Amino acid sequence: MLSWDDFDSDAPIKTFKPQDVPASVRQEALKQTQGLDTPVRQPAPTAQQTAAVKQAIIKEKEQPVAAAPAAPVQTAPAAVAPATPAPTKAPAPAVAPKEAPPEVAIDPTLSATERAEAGIANLDIAAGAAELEMGAARIEVDDKAMINCRADLNQLVPFKYEWAWQKYLDACANHWMPQEINMTADVATWKSEDGLSADERLIVERSLGYFSSADSLVANNLVLAVYRLITNPECRQYLLRQSFEEAIHTHAYQYCVESLGMDEGAIFNMYREVPAVAKKAAWTIKHTQALCDPTFNTGTPETDQELLSNLIAFCCVTEGIFFYCGFSQILSMGRRNKMTGVAEQFQYILRDESMHLNFGVDVINQIKLENPHLWTEAFQEKATQMIIEGTELEIAYARDTMPRGVLGMNAAMMEEYLHFIANRRLNQLGLSEQYPGAQNPFPWMSEMMDLRKEKNFFETRVIEYQTGGALSWD
Ligand SMILES: [Fe+2]
Ligand SMILES: [Fe+2]
Repeated sequence: MLSWDDFDSDAPIKTFKPQDVPASVRQEALKQTQGLDTPVRQPAPTAQQTAAVKQAIIKEKEQPVAAAPAAPVQTAPAAVAPATPAPTKAPAPAVAPKEAPPEVAIDPTLSATERAEAGIANLDIAAGAAELEMGAARIEVDDKAMINCRADLNQLVPFKYEWAWQKYLDACANHWMPQEINMTADVATWKSEDGLSADERLIVERSLGYFSSADSLVANNLVLAVYRLITNPECRQYLLRQSFEEAIHTHAYQYCVESLGMDEGAIFNMYREVPAVAKKAAWTIKHTQALCDPTFNTGTPETDQELLSNLIAFCCVTEGIFFYCGFSQILSMGRRNKMTGVAEQFQYILRDESMHLNFGVDVINQIKLENPHLWTEAFQEKATQMIIEGTELEIAYARDTMPRGVLGMNAAMMEEYLHFIANRRLNQLGLSEQYPGAQNPFPWMSEMMDLRKEKNFFETRVIEYQTGGALSWD
């Protein structure tokens, strides 16, 4: 069931329903928490140790191909790190690297079948694939964990996190494509001299400029940083779906820019040319850098917290705050019957984003539940600081894009709205509100977003996808 709680000021905030954590995991987590406060605590790696680990990894990479370890790079730090404590559960031992068998010279004059047989005759099914782990025990549901567990290649069932699977199904049920939306009226409005005021044109341009870079950043973060660190197949399934949705969003912005005949260079370079846009992009990029290091891995309280920071930065701030000024501006425009095609694209994007945000919050809360030692007071301070920083950057963006009142809104109203949104984000993470009494000045946002009751989605779009036409069976 979809949740629009972010837009409905009367609805209570969605309550996070955690999955059961087995007693053994709780005990282990408790032990870790106690360990953090005792003198026997495992010390964090020193700078020299970290440098030694990095050096070892670099050396390993420099080995000739034949002698290179068969396991993926990310398992290397855990294998060589001298002081890497496992906070919840020790991962299954990695498969010992094996020497690759020598390449067999195949006689090219043999038949195709003989050449194929010769090539696979000495195939070692355990070599080069830690994921296969031939002979390893089968995964039980209690073996599953959000982070730092043995990431089974393909074992979705038994589900442990039903909420993740349900979100994947809901997301698929909401599939849409940008070309299904009629842009004819928008083209006429955009090309007409008195179709839009200068302030309204600025809003359309800034929105397309910011969102096109932001969605690319989110997609990169999912694929290049977060995916490999979330060690649960049902969550990974949703992350794959989300990654595709981010590609659809990027496609939608490109489709709008192309349909309207806008200056593509100006739009797609806005993230480094317009300060209010650049600052938001820079803040987001800052929070993905550590995880994008290919040698980064979770497994210590510090690195697990780094992953949590990344999730908060992307799900709660980038997708949960940075999108809200632009969304409400464009939806307000659509409400006034202007640029209705662009507004409809943004409606579908915001429906997807609402799910991305809710999924991210559930992931963060589940990690907290399984690893309570990570949610220290200092870390809660840091999370709060991130949310209020994001709120200020978004307020600056609102001022930049609305030097005067426009579309029934102004920068002061947007500031109030963003305080209201920030309080909701803080609440969703179990943190204290920082803007007491903030109200939602745009209650119409919930109505605009509720696609189920406001319009018959299926009457306005092509529902037959091109699968049949794209296939040929001859
Ligand atoms: Fe997106
Ligand atoms: Fe998203």
